[in-house]
Amino acid sequence: MADIPVEQWRGVDEGWGRRAAEFAALSEPGNCREYVAMHQHLDVGAGVRLLDVACGSGLAIELAVARGASCAGLDASHRLVAVAQDRNPASDVRTGDMHALPWEDDTFDVVTSFRGIWGTTPDAVAEVRRVLRPGGRMGLTVWGHIKASSGAWALKPFTLAADEKVANQAAMVSLGRPGVGEDLLSRWGFDDVQCIEIPFAWEFPDPETYARALAATGPAYEAIQSVGEEAFTQYAVDVAREHVRDGLPLRAEIKVVGYVARKPATRTASLEVNFLPDPEPSPAVDEFYAGDLEELGYVMNSSRLWGRHPQSWKSLFGLIGTATELGGLSFRQRAILVTATAATISDSYCSMAWGAKFAKKSGPDIAAGVLRGSDGGLTPQESALAAWARQVARDPNATTADDVNSLRNAGFDDMQIFAITVYVAARIALSTVNDALGSAPDVELAASLHPEVREAVAFGRPPGE
Ligand SMILES: C[S@@+](CC[C@H](N)C(=O)[O-])C[C@H]1O[C@@H](n2cnc3c(N)ncnc32)[C@H](O)[C@@H]1O
Repeated sequence: MADIPVEQWRGVDEGWGRRAAEFAALSEPGNCREYVAMHQHLDVGAGVRLLDVACGSGLAIELAVARGASCAGLDASHRLVAVAQDRNPASDVRTGDMHALPWEDDTFDVVTSFRGIWGTTPDAVAEVRRVLRPGGRMGLTVWGHIKASSGAWALKPFTLAADEKVANQAAMVSLGRPGVGEDLLSRWGFDDVQCIEIPFAWEFPDPETYARALAATGPAYEAIQSVGEEAFTQYAVDVAREHVRDGLPLRAEIKVVGYVARKPATRTASLEVNFLPDPEPSPAVDEFYAGDLEELGYVMNSSRLWGRHPQSWKSLFGLIGTATELGGLSFRQRAILVTATAATISDSYCSMAWGAKFAKKSGPDIAAGVLRGSDGGLTPQESALAAWARQVARDPNATTADDVNSLRNAGFDDMQIFAITVYVAARIALSTVNDALGSAPDVELAASLHPEVREAVAFGRPPGE
């Protein structure tokens, strides 16, 4: 089981849980069509062990229980979990983070998530895969092409949130774009990935009930924080009034995309992580792996690659060590150099490995900033270091004497400038070998990352086991 990353998910209850009873009774029932369609598609029935991730107040669990499934659920909002548990007393419903599911590997036959896993939370997919038994099925839904939906009006009040929140909402729905979800699930090692149509329609008796139901959701909380409760309600009521129909409920049909996929039936059919086979076992290979096993409890994919010739690895790290000494490079300076270099050449493995260490030492925001290239929280000297690493990695022929002078002006002497450049070049060599030979970041490493750092590594090879 992965370590629970820094507790960002705990803030979720503030938005989603503050009106748990209203969400459960007024909002969630509107989603019932998608639950029924997905359960039907996944053949949920008697004896199926099912987990619902981001289960909200547990209506989907209740419908799966009604079909005879034996259910578990998880949500970050403890107040929604309280409702879900009340609705499903025989089910194992827990409060927690979808990036660190508190169940053993291979526990469930089916895992569902209804608009709970987003473009901004793709790592949760790795956790879903882990807890599914080999051959188990997963089904998730996401918003589809909202603007092309006749009921798009019903989501409009969410756009009252602050600009960055609205931008985040847009990033969240990116999984609904054609091909994106299929690509993500295939890359994370699922088979038989299919995109299916999911019926989705909210119905309300009148604009006021609609506004009240909508106000109980997380995105509404963001809008209310921005414009206030009264303005939010007024806006929602006004929007809905334009859609009132004589003698019929308000009805908002919204495009929802469903993805269903299967975890490969045998463990040997796992993801391709190195294009070369593992080295033949030998005392030298065992010795090479010993450090990983002692420190991490598993052998890193890159060690399995370099294990075929440990001497090459030792020579390269000898050079990295020499450059470190020569330049008097501190841990933080090396973290800046590695993350800036690896991100520039789209090497996800070193970005994650050093992003994790950097975040632990200096905070996830600083590590994620260097990975993204924004460098918030760095001193001027550190920014010069990051800029130089990026220039060297991007195009060493495009550097100028002025660039070198900038390093001098930042306080580095010429020997240090030489050492820093050797250091960056040696890191590029390491990344190049890993990337060219298909060494994917370890799933354990990816799962241990702070979400901010994980989100910043939106490039390169996805994690594989
Ligand atoms: C769009 S709602 C979907 C809820 C429910 N599946 C439904 O159909 O109504 C998103 C849910 O994700 C939950 N959530 C957000 N971040 C989470 C996290 N990191 N781990 C687990 N649940 C999370 C929220 O509390 C919320 O219940």
